[in-house]
Amino acid sequence: MERTFLMVKPDGVQRNLIGDIVSRFENKGFQLVGAKLMQVTEELAQQHYGEHKERPFFGELVDFITSGPVFAMVWEGENVISTARLLVGATNPTESAPGTIRGDYAVTVGKNIIHGSDSPESAVREIGLFFKEEELVSYDKTM
Ligand code: CMP
Repeated sequence: MERTFLMVKPDGVQRNLIGDIVSRFENKGFQLVGAKLMQVTEELAQQHYGEHKERPFFGELVDFITSGPVFAMVWEGENVISTARLLVGATNPTESAPGTIRGDYAVTVGKNIIHGSDSPESAVREIGLFFKEEELVSYDKTM
């Protein structure tokens, strides 16, 4: 079954949006298989955002993601990577549709509430960066 990595960023945690965000993915029908509130270190931030290293906003990105706790999650389900991106909304909040997480809650591209893996390769890489295999729990829904 496909898995993706989602992370409520420091602004989402500060604004008490963890519960709302978790509910959106639960209500859609996806399964939470791992989650933790954590402080991202400078080293982890640089690895996670490695592909943006040459961008002018890289320093800002690392400073922001390390500025306070994040809520890191792994979700499982059919086509969860692309569907989660739809629920998250466009990166730039001026383009994210109402009804999406960023469309409902974000105003700036830097503080855009949540990160979601953009491809199967990114999902594997990001899950591996943030979680140990034993922190992920696969289970069958019986109720
Ligand atoms: P995210 O999905 O976490 O992945 C890369 C992040 O870079 C993206 O969300 C945005 O928050 C951030 N980003 C993209 N473009 C800009 C920009 N022009 N200025 C600041 N941050 C940006």
